[in-house]
Amino acid sequence: MLTLSNNARQILNERYLLKDNKGHIIETPQQLFKRVATFVAGCEKRQKDLFEIQFYKMLSGLYFLPNSPTLMNAGCKKGQLSACFVLPVEDSLKGIFNTLKYAALIHQSGGGTGFNFSKLRPKDEIVSSASGSSSGPVAFIKVYDAATEYVKQGGKRRGANMGILNIDHPDIEAFITSKSSRDAIENFNISVGISDDFMRAVVQDLNWNLINPRTKKITKVLKAKDLWHLIVHEAWRTGDPGLIFIDTINTQNPTPKIGRIDCTNPCGEVPLLNYESCNLGSINLAKMIVEKDEKILIDWKKLTKTIHLGIRFLDNIITLNHYLLPQIKRITTANRKIGLGVMGWAELLILLEVPYASDEAVALAEQVMQFIKKESFTASEKLANERGVFPNWNDSIYSPKYKLRNATCNSIAPTGTISVIANTSYSIEPLFALAYNRVGILGNETQTEINTLFIEKIKQLNLWTPQVENTVLRTGSIENIKIIPDHIKHLFKTSLDISWQYHLLHQRAFQKYTDNAVSKTINLSEEKTAEDVSKIFMTAWNYKLKGITIYRYGSKTNQVLQKCSLN
Ligand code: CDP
Repeated sequence: MLTLSNNARQILNERYLLKDNKGHIIETPQQLFKRVATFVAGCEKRQKDLFEIQFYKMLSGLYFLPNSPTLMNAGCKKGQLSACFVLPVEDSLKGIFNTLKYAALIHQSGGGTGFNFSKLRPKDEIVSSASGSSSGPVAFIKVYDAATEYVKQGGKRRGANMGILNIDHPDIEAFITSKSSRDAIENFNISVGISDDFMRAVVQDLNWNLINPRTKKITKVLKAKDLWHLIVHEAWRTGDPGLIFIDTINTQNPTPKIGRIDCTNPCGEVPLLNYESCNLGSINLAKMIVEKDEKILIDWKKLTKTIHLGIRFLDNIITLNHYLLPQIKRITTANRKIGLGVMGWAELLILLEVPYASDEAVALAEQVMQFIKKESFTASEKLANERGVFPNWNDSIYSPKYKLRNATCNSIAPTGTISVIANTSYSIEPLFALAYNRVGILGNETQTEINTLFIEKIKQLNLWTPQVENTVLRTGSIENIKIIPDHIKHLFKTSLDISWQYHLLHQRAFQKYTDNAVSKTINLSEEKTAEDVSKIFMTAWNYKLKGITIYRYGSKTNQVLQKCSLN
């Protein structure tokens, strides 16, 4: 039987269940999962019915959910099913506006777009065709931003964008501060494309050259450290920019002969080539458990089955997808990249009674993700035997020894909506608070939630009193409630009370066994300093993370998750 939380029902009603042209809902959540399962089993040559049933069980059991566009569009006419795209931005007006048109089409279908703007000539350079001067990347990002504002995704949610500018672009300083001006960019995550050379220049306190991408001439020399401090200060103040470690990404590019990667999708979890897209799906780890002798353990068998079925599901989508552009179809079907990840990590840890902020949890993170990687690659190898390797395989790092169906297999997405549908914690994030107001994706409603696992645990301990409930609702925390034992406080430590060191250790543990990337936000309490941010960024590079984003509580007014107000 399908059991959904109230929040899940609300979100499904608003955006996922099919509606007729009068706006009336015409399917139930069960029918939604059936629609998706039937469509995705559609390309199976043998045992189609069996796969349809297995996919349905996996979806309706909330063991695995694909990214939102698949839930919204599978089985619909010209259903576009991918969440992640990267588009090139060429240094010409025609190129810039062609790409904007493509982005609008992608947003309309529910996908998000990443762009690296570093090929654009800097601001105030002569434009030969118009005897004027160029506007520069930041101005064009604003144009893209405004367009995004007006193309709400399928009428359901606003398009997400990633804007990257490389650290040696002449306009990098304006870019770094572009989200703090009064006419700030709203619909973009921005990240600086950081090279290893730059990081070494910061460490060794060297000069750094800004270079015009068109003329290749040096336009300015400044101290690497000054640029670093500008980034750190802005990130501390506003949460943006994040960093993308381009060289780390390219050391693990599975198809270097096909091209260098210079961009990721909006939330950073998938590095992609130009025009490439990727399908994501996430396993609900909180459901991968079994009870034995009154103890909860990880159900490795169930996990194995879900991984194999999940990889097959995502590979089928590449075959069945409707591609909006021939360029997208060409590279996506040549590499067949997929990203199987996880959600509910924090809840699994709570069920296992392992505190997030512990070395035991970090070791378990490695064990779980190593297992997921191993089984994902085994599943992709099996598919290669059954269906053939991905067409670019000969030009990949896996040729000639390792036959795979997919150039990438794993990715840790934020699971911003699907974790709400599955009623579990986001991605690999710790609980944000024990009670919080979630601002709805449409931005016009808020929902108050107390974590259900917490309520269960406290009830088990006979500590659930109106006072406890009130304090949790008021503060989102149990730190100051005397009757709650210390080990329970430790187990339910929330994001802002967990040190950045443990946040990063979890990100590193998952990244170590993820061939794409890990989307994670290092949540910091308000009093953290710019110096802390600098240390976090430096540690992230040393840990070989592919990207890093911090968010200091209160530094953005429209944050999605808000701790319950203190008054
Ligand atoms: O939970 P859901 O499948 O809706 O998405 P997510 O895991 O939070 O985000 C996965 C990816 O979907 C992001 O990295 C974006 O590429 C895309 N996305 C988007 O285009 N627009 C949004 N409003 C949210 C996500």
